[in-house]
Amino acid sequence: MAENINVLGFDCANALEDAVGKQHGINEGLLSEFAATRGRQAAEALVAMRAAGDLAFCDVIYDEKIADEAKSLAQELYGKFENLVIIGIGGSALGNTTLHSALLHPMHNLLSRKQRSGCPKWFVLDNVDPDITAAHIDTLDLSKTLLVVTSKSGGTAETMANFAIAYRRLAKQVGQTNAASHIVAITDPEKGFLRKLATDNGFHSLPVPSNLGGRFSVLSAVGLFPAALCGIDIDGFLSGTRRMVEACFDSPDVTRSPAYLAAIVFYLADTTRGKHINVMFPYSRRIVTFANWFVQLWAESLGKARSRDGETVNVGQTPIPAVGATDQHSQNQLFMEGPFDKIITFLDVERFDRDLVIPDDFRDDPKIGYLAGHTLTKLIRTEKLGTELALKECSRPTCSITLPRIDAETMGQLMMMFMLATAFAGELYNVNAFDQPGVELGKKITKARLGGV
Ligand code: PA5
Repeated sequence: MAENINVLGFDCANALEDAVGKQHGINEGLLSEFAATRGRQAAEALVAMRAAGDLAFCDVIYDEKIADEAKSLAQELYGKFENLVIIGIGGSALGNTTLHSALLHPMHNLLSRKQRSGCPKWFVLDNVDPDITAAHIDTLDLSKTLLVVTSKSGGTAETMANFAIAYRRLAKQVGQTNAASHIVAITDPEKGFLRKLATDNGFHSLPVPSNLGGRFSVLSAVGLFPAALCGIDIDGFLSGTRRMVEACFDSPDVTRSPAYLAAIVFYLADTTRGKHINVMFPYSRRIVTFANWFVQLWAESLGKARSRDGETVNVGQTPIPAVGATDQHSQNQLFMEGPFDKIITFLDVERFDRDLVIPDDFRDDPKIGYLAGHTLTKLIRTEKLGTELALKECSRPTCSITLPRIDAETMGQLMMMFMLATAFAGELYNVNAFDQPGVELGKKITKARLGGV
């Protein structure tokens, strides 16, 4: 179990045999032995990859230029726009949504400009649902809007379609010449249609390092620029990511590295106990988006047809998001009594930014009087504990991560914990965690059917 001071821990006690029985729990002896053998090999493989420059997500966080460029453009544009519309998809949108939802006021867009400290309202267009795109361009005053178009490849259909629509409308409203000052393109430093478009038209632009995959790109301008523009503490976020990297790489025992321990537990649950579904269950509405981000990371990185040796393996554990306490009244029935095919990870928040006491107006009611005087923090945390214990009683393995609070440093640690866990799990499954041939195939077929080449 990880015990690094100030580093998030990964508690897997309730996923072990002792807690949930031999049939569904991971054998503690097997865990230790596996960690010391295959786990150690995987850790060494990551060290070697990093030394060879093949683990970009662990290095970009030390590249001050990336954060400086994001901050300086944010500063240049600060106060000039009422709205920020991020146009991207997959890895080019999920990280932003995670940071903005977790770290801005939950009602940010309803606050006054002063309450937002001059930062823009934020919106994400990550789909080509015509109702949603139309609603954005019809409702927002584009003359007060900054469009941040993000695509590593610079040619993703959904992103470029939404951008083309918004760009045309923007140019109509502010004039073709002025439109450029309303656009930031975040894309490959040299290649792709979007890079050329940005250069030819004088858009603001920032690079996505060419060796950094979409699922990890929140660590580059993709995540950092829109966050900085909205006043999010990107230095704190990056410091959290670095703390996690150092805790994992410097740990002599892989079970003391929270990320590696998580990967080993999930892998053994999948391959030795039939837990083919991995549920991410935050007890905080603000980090549901983290669960969605994790879903993409785990699914797209590890769901692979072929091993790195070219053998057909069709591996991958299906990640699904849940949210406490809401899903106690929805999916949790299935988690408790359905197939024994899940491992669940709770995210528990120790201290919320706000707290509210439940008034005692109904204290005399025999059924709900007990609520009076408790805080919502106490209630939601007790709900989490109750669910955890109930799942244990039903022989369902669970893990838990306790966040002292939701802030930039913690989010950096949490996101890096799962990026490292994913890379580590790639080693365990022996698949390339950094490609996405299935996604590419879908993109290719769609393009061909629309007449593209
Ligand atoms: O993680 C990934 O690589 C993908 O999800 C991509 O981010 C997604 O397909 C969007 O690609 P792009 O950034 O090239 O537009």
